[in-house]
Amino acid sequence: KYEIKTILLSSSVMAVFFFAILYNAFARKIDVPACIPYNATFRQSAIKKVDDTHYEVYIIARMWAFDPAEIIVPAGSTVDFYLTSADVVHGFNIERKGVNLMAIPGAVNKTTVNFTDYGTYRIVCHEYCGAGHHNMMAQVLVT
Ligand code: CUA
Repeated sequence: KYEIKTILLSSSVMAVFFFAILYNAFARKIDVPACIPYNATFRQSAIKKVDDTHYEVYIIARMWAFDPAEIIVPAGSTVDFYLTSADVVHGFNIERKGVNLMAIPGAVNKTTVNFTDYGTYRIVCHEYCGAGHHNMMAQVLVT
């Protein structure tokens, strides 16, 4: 009897979580982070302009910096971030944007962010990665 209750409870919790992901992805148009296969050509950081309002940024995290450390885009831009690590696991948090990714060696994580407002958005490593962890940051300048 208790087993049935437990199963029903846990499966309904799972359903709520699943619904929350779908809701965020479609109704609120929030990008759900994607883990994409590691591409061996991703050895160099890059900022690529796709068109006037669309950029792709390839970021490499390593002890204890992000490369590139500064990303400048015009207001109204949509930016696809592709993230990997050259050494250990790092974090990737963009303030005021709700971005929370992991930089994992041998893997690429991707997310998309819309920068509608002018300003400076700091990026910090929020996964402890050694002595220089607290100095590991970058920024997005929206001009
Ligand atoms: Cu990189 Cu903490």
